Amino acid sequence: MPGDHEIYRDHADVYARFAEHSAANSLYDRPAILRLAGDVAGKRVLELGCAGGGLTARRAERGADVLALDREPRLVALTRERLGPRAQVEVADLEQPLTMVADGSVDVVVASLVLHYVEHWSPLLDELRRCLKPGGALVFSVHHPITGWFRSDRTDYHRTELVSEQWDWDGQRVTARLFRRPLSAIFGLLRDARFAIDVVDEPRPERGAGVDPQMFEVLSTKPVFLFVRAVKS
Ligand SMILES: C[S@@+](CC[C@H](N)C(=O)[O-])C[C@H]1O[C@@H](n2cnc3c(N)ncnc32)[C@H](O)[C@@H]1O
Repeated sequence: MPGDHEIYRDHADVYARFAEHSAANSLYDRPAILRLAGDVAGKRVLELGCAGGGLTARRAERGADVLALDREPRLVALTRERLGPRAQVEVADLEQPLTMVADGSVDVVVASLVLHYVEHWSPLLDELRRCLKPGGALVFSVHHPITGWFRSDRTDYHRTELVSEQWDWDGQRVTARLFRRPLSAIFGLLRDARFAIDVVDEPRPERGAGVDPQMFEVLSTKPVFLFVRAVKS
């Protein structure tokens, strides 16, 4: 059964606004992803799951040549509206071949908080390997496997399974379903696709004004997201 994407279809505008200011996105995910992607000026960046374009905009500001993909047409429309000609933004499903990307054309692939919606990583990783230049990097964040384990019924750590989480997007309650997988699956699938692990990160959030102190405490002390930079070897 596929992961649940309906929340991004049904609440696209709400999510795009929420992701702009939420502590998890603005103080935790985006800074870590931008840091791991490094200097992208003049580089071809392929962004997977761009949602409302929060990261796309920041990358374009840093001089990257960005191709951003998302499977939700409304989120693609919002990102196009936001970026105008500064980025190419297309509707695409990561579970299908990325036919719009030429072989060996990409310097950095960025996938922030999207890979846990994809059940089978191998075909996608093979596609990313095809798209990347030699030595190109894949930078991604996923919900942390430890937290996923606690959200599961804890009958079998070794399987990849759907887990549910309740979220509040500025008053809009949503139930997300995402794939939890063991650490050995995350790193084993990368190795099988011939990616070498460069960085594994579990950063603390940046400080920011007006952040809910309870959320800041959670992000500072719990395993919320896992960040990886892997290189096409
Ligand atoms: C949590 S959001 C990503 C946040 C975003 N990277 C940001 O910086 O704001 C997850 C996104 O992944 C997209 N998505 C989920 N499954 C997908 C798939 N199979 N193909 C393409 N996009 C997908 C959703 O539509 C949603 O926009």
